[in-house]
Amino acid sequence: MATRKLFLVLFLQLIMFVVLNPVYGQERLKLGFYEKSCPEAEAIVKKVMVETLSKAPTLAAPLIRMHFHDCFVRGCDGSVLLSSSTNQAEKDFASNLNLRGFQIIDRVKSALEKACPGVVSCADILALVARDATATIKGPSWEVETGRKDGRVSSEIEAHENLVPPTANITQLIRSFQERGLSIKDLVVLSGAHTVGTSHCYSFNYRLYNFTGKGDTDPNLDPNYIKRLKNKCKPGDNTTLVEMNPGSFKMGRIGVLTGKAGEIRKQCSKVNK
Ligand code: HEM
Repeated sequence: MATRKLFLVLFLQLIMFVVLNPVYGQERLKLGFYEKSCPEAEAIVKKVMVETLSKAPTLAAPLIRMHFHDCFVRGCDGSVLLSSSTNQAEKDFASNLNLRGFQIIDRVKSALEKACPGVVSCADILALVARDATATIKGPSWEVETGRKDGRVSSEIEAHENLVPPTANITQLIRSFQERGLSIKDLVVLSGAHTVGTSHCYSFNYRLYNFTGKGDTDPNLDPNYIKRLKNKCKPGDNTTLVEMNPGSFKMGRIGVLTGKAGEIRKQCSKVNK
């Protein structure tokens, strides 16, 4: 009888473990997951990224963003890449219509399929591409754990429910990150991705022209910055793109002489006669 009771308790514990443990039945991600199955995988991703971004550096930003938009809807499962015949996939949701670079992911995937057919997941490609895009444009780099599998579902409604809109306040942003196990520090650090790339005027125009519905401006914005943004973005502008980080040019643009101003010295230590 005692043995049966003990067996029952152990059995119940096992069930609880299976039900409650989120990683049960799932292999954990790890560094170098493809070390044996596709040893060149990470080098191939990097090569394609360096080649691509040397010709089209502005694609780095949308590729970084694509990984974020993938991970916040159903987890990092490549669902943002799926197309649906009825236009109801994640990529059909309004905030995803301005994602760019899907053809680069296809290019990476083709190179990987050629080297190791059916081995490297699209979800891992997104994670590696985000890292390599950042590093290639001279941003920071980090180690990426791999071993993600691709999901089979992609829903526009879920993208709507899970991607925080540009109108979200800080409480909503913190909640959205915390729901996914990310801290306030993660929110701040990851928001640093907005150092690169562009935004459409429509994503923030309400802060310039109609913050509280009374035709007013967001008082938290710097007045000089507002002036600058209003110059670029007129009310109702649906097309103009604005750089995320204005003025992030190289020192080398300060007070330059161009066109008819200045000369080409024959000798650098002397002005021309
Ligand atoms: C915290 C919540 C976030 C919100 C509300 C948000 C919102 C936005 C918005 C409105 C845009 C401009 C889209 C457009 O009008 O074209 C944008 C662009 C961008 N976002 Fe975020 N974002 C968030 C977090 C992140 C995170 C975590 C990352 C990456 C780690 C990221 C990376 C980017 C990048 C790189 C761009 C520029 C894309 C381009 O140039 O095409 N964002 N984001």
